Amino acid sequence: MRVVLGIESSCDETAAALVREDRTILAQRIASQDEEHRPYGGVVPEIAARAHADRLAPLIAATLADAGMQLADVDAVAATAGPGLIGGVMVGLVSAKALAMAGDKPLIAINHLEGHALSPRLADPALAYPYLLLLVSGGHCQVLEVRGVGQYRRLATTIDDALGEAFDKTAKILGLGYPGGPAVERLAREGDPGKVRLPRPLLGSAEPHFSFAGLKSAVLRAKEAGIHADADLAAAFQQAALDCVIDRTRHALGMAGDVTALVVAGGVAANQAIRTALQELAAEHGLPFVAPPLALCTDNAAMIAWAGVERLGQNDSLDFAARPRWPLDPDAAPVRGAGVKA
Ligand code: KG4
Ligand code: ZN
Repeated sequence: MRVVLGIESSCDETAAALVREDRTILAQRIASQDEEHRPYGGVVPEIAARAHADRLAPLIAATLADAGMQLADVDAVAATAGPGLIGGVMVGLVSAKALAMAGDKPLIAINHLEGHALSPRLADPALAYPYLLLLVSGGHCQVLEVRGVGQYRRLATTIDDALGEAFDKTAKILGLGYPGGPAVERLAREGDPGKVRLPRPLLGSAEPHFSFAGLKSAVLRAKEAGIHADADLAAAFQQAALDCVIDRTRHALGMAGDVTALVVAGGVAANQAIRTALQELAAEHGLPFVAPPLALCTDNAAMIAWAGVERLGQNDSLDFAARPRWPLDPDAAPVRGAGVKA
């Protein structure tokens, strides 16, 4: 059975994985850069690129050793070629090219968003196309109809901040540190969401998209007013964000054709309140709800290797350029905000 080496370096995780075509993850390693970025309250691109450059080669060697394999044993090298922080993407892609050249292996350039979009199929062989995917992370916030490998219809995207970004900014406003999502969720459990009134941008809008910038600004103003407990602010923020996500995903379900399931991926899928609400939304539509294990939801290389498995037979040129932007659905109409996070 064939095995793909996957490499991920588009944001702040340096990762390598070996995945076999029967969906077995033979080995995977992830080096997080949380400590490097924590003093700045967010990812600093230059620091990220340097950290990837320092760590990636030994990480790949260790991943191969974990599986008792050598480069000669892999059938293809797949790497994230975008979208993402360009310095990091270049480190991963150049490493993949060097390995492909040295080992005379096919190079498979992977769209990071496709990695997320197909990861539910790594975890769940029964998941059939087409499915509706809500992709919510620190860098991405979109709803896609996943029809097959390379076949994506983007139904909605954010016109400003991604959902995880809104959680991270709220955490910063409340002094909770980085990464903020888990901290906001923890604090929200101790608060009363009804004590602070916050806006729900685009709720009920005929336009399918997401918006979170106004919500984050409202949290900042409420914090500066100094009358509310932080826990109540966190709870109110999470409730408002959740209401928006559910409303927008319901809207997208109305736009999509027949789908087999409602699927969530991306780091925010870790949020228990949002997961529960999505599960209820799926049930409301008579659909199964699929959420891959958390380790596959957040950035990882197993999803990149798996996308490589799905694309076995492809052999990209050694001059394939890293892409800071790379929409999954090139036909999707541009949105206000210029699709910065698309
Ligand atoms: O997928 P991911 O690891 O990296 C990106 O591609 O961005 O997602 C990280 C994002 C961060 O914004 C983080 O704050 C958010 O996911 N996140 C959460 C939770 N856990 C992680 N947001 C809300 N609630 C959580 N429990
Ligand atoms: Zn990601």
